[in-house]
Amino acid sequence: VARGFREIRHREAMLSLANALSADEVLAFDKRLADLLGNSAEQSLLYNCELKYDGLAVSLQYESGVFVRGATRGDGRVGEDITANLKTIGAIPLTLRDGFSPPLLEVRGEVLMYRSDFEKLNQTQEEAGEKAFVNPRNAAAGSLRQLDVSITASRNLRLFAYAWGDASLTPGETQSDVLAQFEAWGFSVNPLSKVCANMDEAIDAYRKIEELRAGLDYDIDGVVFKVNRLDWQSRLGFVSRSPRWAIAHKFPAEQATTQVNDIEIQVGRTGALTPVGIVEPVNLSGATVTRISLHNWGLVQQKNLTVGATVSAMRRGGVIPHLEAVVVPGEGEVKPPEACPSCGGGVEIQGDFVI
Ligand code: IVH
Repeated sequence: VARGFREIRHREAMLSLANALSADEVLAFDKRLADLLGNSAEQSLLYNCELKYDGLAVSLQYESGVFVRGATRGDGRVGEDITANLKTIGAIPLTLRDGFSPPLLEVRGEVLMYRSDFEKLNQTQEEAGEKAFVNPRNAAAGSLRQLDVSITASRNLRLFAYAWGDASLTPGETQSDVLAQFEAWGFSVNPLSKVCANMDEAIDAYRKIEELRAGLDYDIDGVVFKVNRLDWQSRLGFVSRSPRWAIAHKFPAEQATTQVNDIEIQVGRTGALTPVGIVEPVNLSGATVTRISLHNWGLVQQKNLTVGATVSAMRRGGVIPHLEAVVVPGEGEVKPPEACPSCGGGVEIQGDFVI
């Protein structure tokens, strides 16, 4: 991962979304908007429901239809120039399709790594004695910020386009039109976005997406409701750092605190010996968890993760639960095994891994 990317100042700040954790909060949001819009809201207030991707927001600038500059979100005002890296992502057109060439168009979206690609990448990292990535988001971030773009190119990153910034045109009359327009220009957009006639339908869409979540090949952490009409978005405007016309209905955290009762060794397909924590049974979004992955021995030793430690366990969208943080370290010391528990063979340390 490189230092020293050039800075890019966003011409329009990249903002954040207000969050809601309950249906009551989103109903209150809907009521507030209907009040603010006054009479015009007698026509129903439609929402475009989109997934809230757990990836990295990027800005993509096109001049006369050609991709010229791309940046990370950074602090929202200034990001890093990762143009060369973004050019390796298939979901980002180098020129807008249909010969469309407005003087200026900035498309925004989320870069992510599919879970299946993440698993493969970690396997390769492990075989090469390199550090594994903790989750697909970190892997995507590490892959994007590389001075050697051939590394980025090899990582199969994806993008979903969902917004625009500075532009010499408005790409449609509604958010759903804009997404269709992005697709026509060659960007990937998510097929699960849906226009809902009112907030009850939107909450229903949220529940359906929550059910689909575990089966998706990428991480999401909620559903975003956006007022579909762009003229109404303009009327509603912004409060501090967020648009008033959108809200992120987050999923409940799939995280819980528990205690490590034992540490077992799991022998992987490639012979890697992974530490697994046997924990006090804990409920992680509906399922009882008794075993969590502790990632690798380097981490176990560095964090003083011994029997008796209190840890926070985490699961993202149905994948294997894993250690997120050590809340209170245990006492004593844990040593990597000296022999393979399966075949009794010798072991070798490669980076943080024991093989
Ligand atoms: S719209 C002003 N749509 O959420 C809002 N953002 O908290 C502009 N995000 O930094 C963003 N999925 O990284 C929008 N469907 C979606 C999104 C989304 C994920 C992220 C984005 C942004 C953060 C805002």
